[in-house]
Amino acid sequence: MNMTPDPVHGAGLGLRRAFIAAAAEQPPLEVSFWEIAPENWIAVGGRWGRLLRGLTERHPFVCHGLSLSIGSPAPLDVPFVNRIKTFLDAHQIAVYTEHLSYCSDDGQLYDLMPIPFTAEAVQHVARRIRQVQEILERRIALENVSYYAAPGQEMREIDFINAVLDEADCDLLLDVNNILVNSINHRYDPIAFLDALPAERIVYGHIAGHYEEAPDLRIDTHGADVIEPVWALLEQAYARFGVFPTLLERDFNIPPLAELTAEVQRISDIQRQYTDQLGAPRVTANGHLAHA
Ligand SMILES: [Fe+2]
Repeated sequence: MNMTPDPVHGAGLGLRRAFIAAAAEQPPLEVSFWEIAPENWIAVGGRWGRLLRGLTERHPFVCHGLSLSIGSPAPLDVPFVNRIKTFLDAHQIAVYTEHLSYCSDDGQLYDLMPIPFTAEAVQHVARRIRQVQEILERRIALENVSYYAAPGQEMREIDFINAVLDEADCDLLLDVNNILVNSINHRYDPIAFLDALPAERIVYGHIAGHYEEAPDLRIDTHGADVIEPVWALLEQAYARFGVFPTLLERDFNIPPLAELTAEVQRISDIQRQYTDQLGAPRVTANGHLAHA
């Protein structure tokens, strides 16, 4: 682990092609850092490639992968991880995160399947995470994902996540929306879930909107505005862990950039409120938050 990441701070936004030109022309002041999926950009040149390069040269970025498929029973795709490393190095992006799940089919469908919450799966996934960290020469962070079925479940989701983080010695990308979605779909207390997370492993957070299929069934679509209970849960997370960098994800029904930056500004407003209450914000450094 010989790389010292550039810290990211404040409130961020997932960069999408729908608004990259607008962002490059007039970078929104509300956005302190950007996130991209490396798979969507690795082989991209021409105008799109130049737009991205122009932004990564001037602004802090993190990478959030889609198709590593860390839970897959298949061997790790080492050439793919090497391509990720080349991309991270080329754009000088220190932070790489992925989903604690696996992709169905050949890993290109981007629909994420749950890993069985079992002790055997903990060992399997942790081994693969360590392998990825060795190739990338940096710690990575895994995201708590939304899931709709839990086949072969032997332990609680929170215990599975904590066991993987511990066994792999990796970090956590804390998705606040996913906690709320899962707590409704699987009927658990989201506050108790937060309380059981390891604060020192949180690299940054995600917040997003979701779809209410029914009062007791939520679908994690990233296709709507963030709802009030998710904002409230973000505040609960800051109250517990201190302020951590937090990023808005929006993948469908993408509104004009100005509407997204208003939500990003709301993240900043809450961060400022909790910084005032709790003291200086925690900062990421070497992939870790400093203890407050
Ligand atoms: Fe997320």
